[in-house]
Amino acid sequence: MKKSWDGRFRKTLNPFIEEFSSSIDIDVKLAEYDIQGSIAHIKMLGKVNVISKNDTKKILHGLEEILQEASKGKLKYTSTDEDIHMAIERMLVGKIGKVGNKLHTARSRNDQIALDERLYLRDEIAEVSKLIKKLQRVIISIAQKNIDVVMPGLTHMQHAQPVLFSHYLMAYFNMLDRDRARLKDCLKRVNIMPLGAGAIAGTSFPVDREYVAKLLGFSTITENSIDTVSDRDFILEFVSCSAILMMHLSRLCEDIVIYSSEEFGYVELDDSICTGSSMMPQKKNPDVAELIRGKTARVYGSLMTLFTLMKALPLSYNRDMQEDKPALFDAVETVKICLKAGAKLLENIKLNRKRLENILTKDFSCATEIADYLVRQGMAFRDAHKLVGRIVRYCIDNKKHLRDLTCSEFKSFSSLFLNDVVAFTSPNSSVKSKSSPGGTCLKNVKAQIEKAKNSLK
Ligand code: ARG
Repeated sequence: MKKSWDGRFRKTLNPFIEEFSSSIDIDVKLAEYDIQGSIAHIKMLGKVNVISKNDTKKILHGLEEILQEASKGKLKYTSTDEDIHMAIERMLVGKIGKVGNKLHTARSRNDQIALDERLYLRDEIAEVSKLIKKLQRVIISIAQKNIDVVMPGLTHMQHAQPVLFSHYLMAYFNMLDRDRARLKDCLKRVNIMPLGAGAIAGTSFPVDREYVAKLLGFSTITENSIDTVSDRDFILEFVSCSAILMMHLSRLCEDIVIYSSEEFGYVELDDSICTGSSMMPQKKNPDVAELIRGKTARVYGSLMTLFTLMKALPLSYNRDMQEDKPALFDAVETVKICLKAGAKLLENIKLNRKRLENILTKDFSCATEIADYLVRQGMAFRDAHKLVGRIVRYCIDNKKHLRDLTCSEFKSFSSLFLNDVVAFTSPNSSVKSKSSPGGTCLKNVKAQIEKAKNSLK
């Protein structure tokens, strides 16, 4: 197949190498962005009289037709298209004839691909942010529905202190809020216009880069042509943000896998989102949670691919950089589908209130309350800690729980205990007392939910 760059070649490209080096199967995803970029580019070339008004009109017309077809998914690619840029150019020349060959004036595929990727990522960041918001809304509604349910808060996977389930869930709201903020910041560095850098050096044509930026809605233009064609930081940054986001989703899923297990039984997942076992008739598996946790690995993999891809590349552009796209696209698609599945998962979760109540009567998660009680009676915290430790020991030795202890049993450990001490073994009163800013008391959680709702408006 003839190539537009084959002037200096004595031989045609080996068919295997042609296939090996082609990226069309992957970068078709960028078709519409590539055409939009070309439309802005040709408008600019016409404006600064590098291309005649008449030729500009013809090229513009051809590109707009191709864009129409692209939006209907009607573009036809051939296996000999080297990449999306060459494919669109081939289609243009096929449509309007030789004048189409003028489109690539003052441009290289090196700045063109940077443009396409930035346009693509700008849209996808908006999309991902929208999906994060949707998941945040689900979190709020599940938290509201179960606002007053108390659960054993865990540290080291051991019962720590009673907390509201709604408070626990809203922790994920905060994590997702940071994810959105990170993406918003990342967007600042994505939304910069690279065209005009040419292959590496810039161009001798009197291009108006600001005009192209304005046409395509970029906030500004890149500063250094060499950096422009070498830089994939904006992709690394997006995938880094995505990796953190996936880590958050994965932790939520890990919690759900654990909490829905027979041993924990804090929650139950609706049948409609679980699957059975091909062998064991009794099984109901939390596959959705497991798959999100598993897909997190893919996004981490993409991040490592990109870091490894870029780490030893001499400036400026190198063909290696073509390999950034599978990693980027897979990260984008994985993050989006996992955000959707995460929302489904939460919508189909049911709290097992009875079980949670029951568990909390049989643990020591109010031990700190008793130590704090003694502190209020004048004892130093370290001494109170030791003394309550002895009470716990006593309970374990006598097969009792804190809630089983009588006033006189408490009093046998210290004269500072009064008759009201038993009330402090209640998980509800423990939760109620945690009114420090950010603490788990109902009033705080309600206020957080209100604030969260407003922030999503
Ligand atoms: N397909 C290439 C990429 O994805 C586009 C740029 C190619 N430039 C070149 N000089 N071969 O990076």
